[in-house]
Amino acid sequence: MQTPPAPSSGTRRGSLACVGLGMTLGSHLTPLARSHIEQADVVFAALSDGVVEMWLERMHPDVRSLQPYYREGKSRLKTYRQWVELMMAEVRAGKRVCGVFYGHPGIFAWSPHKAIETARAEGYEAHMEPGISAEDCLYADLGIDPGRFGCQHFEASQLLFYERRIDPAGYLVLWQVGLVGDRSLARFQTGSAYRQLLVELLARDYPLDHEVIVYRGATLPIEKPRVRRLPLRELPQAPLTAEETVVLPPAQSLRPNIAMQQRLEALDELEKAGDVA
Ligand SMILES: C[S@@+](CC[C@H](N)C(=O)[O-])C[C@H]1O[C@@H](n2cnc3c(N)ncnc32)[C@H](O)[C@@H]1O
Repeated sequence: MQTPPAPSSGTRRGSLACVGLGMTLGSHLTPLARSHIEQADVVFAALSDGVVEMWLERMHPDVRSLQPYYREGKSRLKTYRQWVELMMAEVRAGKRVCGVFYGHPGIFAWSPHKAIETARAEGYEAHMEPGISAEDCLYADLGIDPGRFGCQHFEASQLLFYERRIDPAGYLVLWQVGLVGDRSLARFQTGSAYRQLLVELLARDYPLDHEVIVYRGATLPIEKPRVRRLPLRELPQAPLTAEETVVLPPAQSLRPNIAMQQRLEALDELEKAGDVA
């Protein structure tokens, strides 16, 4: 079993490790993440469901769930700030703290980044340990290689709140579509009218009959990934949970950049002639 690095001299007592548990209970936890959990004085947990939390409790006697801080009508940002403060209070008390988050602790997750930044700014040892995220599972389960056509990831609401450039020649992965357009940050779900706005925006780059994939990776070993394919126009009416990610496959073929290819060709010629720096 690997051991986490010991605090370097010069840092204050108390430390923070934010680790990922992966998506599927029992099979995604890395030995290093497990080691951080087992060697912590206190463990905070933000996990996908209660069963996963019970599994974590078998690894450590002091697991404190962060889930009760969520509340309908309360800003998630407030909740996430509380999470940071809860972890930091124990770090400042000189404890070795481990924050355990489902998936990857640094992917679409505000608190782990903020807690690590805060701990380091105050002179504590702080570290993030990656985990297998929904993104990783999606590539495996849907047979997508992001390197083939490129792949953009957006938090769905960000597409509505800001002017962004979508490239329909690559994959488009949309996170948190279930609560798209929630400006209050206080709802767990938004309705079909909100998703209709998202569809209208996407329709600038995709035909309405373009296939979208609604994907849910397995969180329990007895589950199978759930993959639903439907035309873009049906997305507003499709039942969608908070645990699903939406993927739009490419709608256009890659267009060659003739000008750049010609410049590369010219460079190749120069190189052949031994004339390139
Ligand atoms: C706050 S983010 C957390 C992501 C997580 N840190 C990770 O590494 O996958 C929540 C979003 O992750 C995606 N997600 C969560 N669970 C999922 C699952 N089981 N399958 C597919 N996507 C999931 C959804 O887009 C959801 O809205």
